[in-house]
Amino acid sequence: MDDFEVRHLKESDIPDALELMRESLGETELLRRTPALFRWKHLQNPAGRSIMLVAEADDRLIGLRTFMRWRLELPGGGELQCVRPVDTATHPDYRRLGIFKTLTEAAVTEARADGVHLIFNTPNPQSGAGYLKMGWTQVGPIGVLARPKLGLVKRRDTLNPSRTVDIDAEPVRPDRLPAWRSPLGLRTPRTTAYLTWRFNQHPTADYRMIMEAGGLAIVRPNSRHHRSELLLCDMAGDIGPRVARAVVRRPGFAYVAAWFSRGTPERAASIKAGIIPLPRVVALTLFARALSPMEVNVASLSSWDLALSDLEML
Ligand SMILES: CC(C)(COP(=O)(O)OP(=O)(O)OC[C@H]1O[C@@H](n2cnc3c(N)ncnc32)[C@H](O)[C@@H]1OP(=O)(O)O)[C@@H](O)C(=O)NCCC(=O)NCCS
Repeated sequence: MDDFEVRHLKESDIPDALELMRESLGETELLRRTPALFRWKHLQNPAGRSIMLVAEADDRLIGLRTFMRWRLELPGGGELQCVRPVDTATHPDYRRLGIFKTLTEAAVTEARADGVHLIFNTPNPQSGAGYLKMGWTQVGPIGVLARPKLGLVKRRDTLNPSRTVDIDAEPVRPDRLPAWRSPLGLRTPRTTAYLTWRFNQHPTADYRMIMEAGGLAIVRPNSRHHRSELLLCDMAGDIGPRVARAVVRRPGFAYVAAWFSRGTPERAASIKAGIIPLPRVVALTLFARALSPMEVNVASLSSWDLALSDLEML
């Protein structure tokens, strides 16, 4: 199909773009595709405004393609300018006609012209197949670390599946956080601007902090399959089992779930607190595409230093 126009998204397109996403990607009580969330992700990110393209035909929006701006620190020093392909959708009446491919290739051209070094994302199988055709590499699976809480695990919260349990913990205060460790692989730099945007300004996710024994855990109450879960999203300061155990001790949750890359102190601390890798469970698959020569092998999962907070954008 060649009779469609590709152009940048304008602010006035946001309602139609959200409608397209709702139609294509769905919407749940806990994941509302609101203008505030779209703006947070794509316009207010301290790493910069996203690359946002739309396809138009028959006087309507038939395709959306966004690349969020991101930064990654290298373990040996230095930073990579990155983009993360996230929200993308093609109207159901116009699928398999090359719209996603055309929009993605146009966004890659724009990213390259902007000096972007690396693209990474966690696509679903449909778009994943398309990315592989366009030159992306499948880096590997992102699993789940979890600790069920006996007694609560069988109880289903049937009152309201979308309800999250209240947690008695303070909102995250980026100015009061302990030091963040150096990167062991490709890692998001935890600057104050990033932390404020990520954990204080998120329009729907309620991040809280738990301090214990010089360590800090950033958590988020959530609900999945009618069960209340506590997500352990990040850790800083003195990372050890004591702070991870303080997370596990929080009452009211059926289980704690987390993700930290192999070889990180956060993963070791979690495992010591009983938050252990679930065998054969794959939550996401990491894909990457380098746009310039890399000093690390981005195609290997061992080159990445990721926490749940780097992966869940909602
Ligand atoms: C995924 C999606 C964006 C693809 O849009 P599209 O415009 O139909 O895709 P294209 O026609 O450009 O397809 C390009 C390539 O992607 C892959 N692809 C696209 N749809 C696919 C599907 N349903 N199953 C498997 N591969 C698919 C194919 O490799 C395809 O190349 P081919 O047609 O030559 O085989 C669209 O199906 C959609 O909106 N899905 C719902 C929302 C969604 O899942 N978004 C991705 C979130 S990560």
